[in-house]
Amino acid sequence: MKMLAHVFSSAVIGLEGVVIDIEVDLGHGEPKTFIVGLPDQAVKESQQRVYSAIKNSNLSNPRRSITVNLAPASVRKEGPFFDLPIAIAILAANGQIPQPGLQGAMVIGELSLDGSVRHVRGILAMAATARQEGFERIFVPAVDAPEAALIPDIEVFPVESLEKLFLHLTGQELIAQALPEENPTAKAPAFDQVDFSEVKGQEHVKRALEVAAAGGHNVLMAGSPGAGKTLLARAITSILPNPSLDEALEITRIYSICDMLPSATPLIQTRPFRAPHHTISHAGLVGGGNVPHPGEISLAHRGVLFLDELPEFGQRILEVLRQPIEDKVVTIARASGSLTFPANFMLISAMNPCPCGYYGDTMKQCTCTSGAILTYQKRISGPLLDRIDIHVHVPRVEYQKLSSRGPAESSAAIRSRVEAARQIQLQRFEGGRLLNNAEMTPVEIRQYCHLDAACEALMQTAMRQMQLTARGYHRVIKLARTIADLAGEKEISQVHLAEALQYRAKEFDF
Ligand SMILES: Nc1ncnc2c1ncn2[C@@H]1O[C@H](COP(=O)(O)OP(=O)(O)O)[C@@H](O)[C@H]1O
Ligand SMILES: [Mg+2]
Repeated sequence: MKMLAHVFSSAVIGLEGVVIDIEVDLGHGEPKTFIVGLPDQAVKESQQRVYSAIKNSNLSNPRRSITVNLAPASVRKEGPFFDLPIAIAILAANGQIPQPGLQGAMVIGELSLDGSVRHVRGILAMAATARQEGFERIFVPAVDAPEAALIPDIEVFPVESLEKLFLHLTGQELIAQALPEENPTAKAPAFDQVDFSEVKGQEHVKRALEVAAAGGHNVLMAGSPGAGKTLLARAITSILPNPSLDEALEITRIYSICDMLPSATPLIQTRPFRAPHHTISHAGLVGGGNVPHPGEISLAHRGVLFLDELPEFGQRILEVLRQPIEDKVVTIARASGSLTFPANFMLISAMNPCPCGYYGDTMKQCTCTSGAILTYQKRISGPLLDRIDIHVHVPRVEYQKLSSRGPAESSAAIRSRVEAARQIQLQRFEGGRLLNNAEMTPVEIRQYCHLDAACEALMQTAMRQMQLTARGYHRVIKLARTIADLAGEKEISQVHLAEALQYRAKEFDF
């Protein structure tokens, strides 16, 4: 009699799940286990866990030699998440579990020595792959079941322990299927960030941030210390529209793979706000490492990347941002081919105008030499500045304004205007892959951003006087489109274009 069994499982490479075929063959040798298929140390350690878990689940380990083969061999299998499928395959090969019940099923889980099934990262990506590859059922750690259930058209079974799965597969005690949460995006987001009503004055900065939020544009705020730059940046997510279900799934997939999904949060329904410190490493910011993992720019996908004290990051690290800002994805080269992670974020950045911080301040004298100021500002290259659509000066707020008790406009009120403008954009790009104006390429710009004669004339003068690059030209038009959308106007007019031009970086002239 053949003592062979197959169980399917999944591993994660980059952000994608891949199917792993686990084959177990029982032989006549002494009771020993061999695992083949290029497993790393963690997989080897799972031998011991599998043996103990079977023993501690009122089940018996076969008294035979056990050969486990994980295919494809070329896939680097990290992490111990093959314990549960290996244990099930061993029991099936030994005739303790009927094999037909495993057809069309994928089994995912890590085991404790006592047989309980532990959480694994990346469930969302693996469940998506299972459905794509035509699996009908997926057995996952019970804690991860709500996450897997976000994927429609596949049955999800939450598994608490090896023994419970054994009882299910032998028909003795069935596990109830995990059902998807109803309407998962309907929940109100928890806004624990700063509300715009707490920020006094700075009306023109608030307007600039509203425009940025409405179209997904990048921002650089400059001004002296204490002017409120960090405060304003921290308020930005409070005026962004909630992510759609598709966006929420994209965000969740990244956090799931990085094992950063908060417990009891199967789906992330708010836009991320990432504020890495300027001492961050290259790999930490853009992603990378031995087993490539997403960096801060991917954790900020569909949300905000906030770089405070921008010049402190140093030129080398800022230059690597240019490609992802343009392409909205980041490509990481590795020996075995390259990996791509999504990185479609809004860049919000802040800086002091000079090393002492008071250049251009109305109340305090700047103590820097002009050479020092120039060197400081040169740390941010022209090509990076060119990719930032909105440059805004944040002046110090006068005492009267700061102490005034008059109510400022709330984030909710601003957000409703932002949402209306985004709605116009969603209709504009309906059925396409674009979600906002900032994502337009020259093709869409030609299609949706018609300039009349007066606008053309204004643009011509501006190009000459401001020495706009071709990229700058396109970026100004996209920004003008957003300003027109906020105003509810079909066509871009001179007023919109003039406001957009005014946000363009000139010199550092604050
Ligand atoms: N416009 C403002 N309205 C209310 N509080 C402000 C404002 N500007 C600054 N502050 C206060 O000053 C503190 C410092 O502001 P911060 O945002 O850190 O300044 P910056 O980042 O420009 O140096 C804030 O935490 C806040 O308490
Ligand atoms: Mg600050």
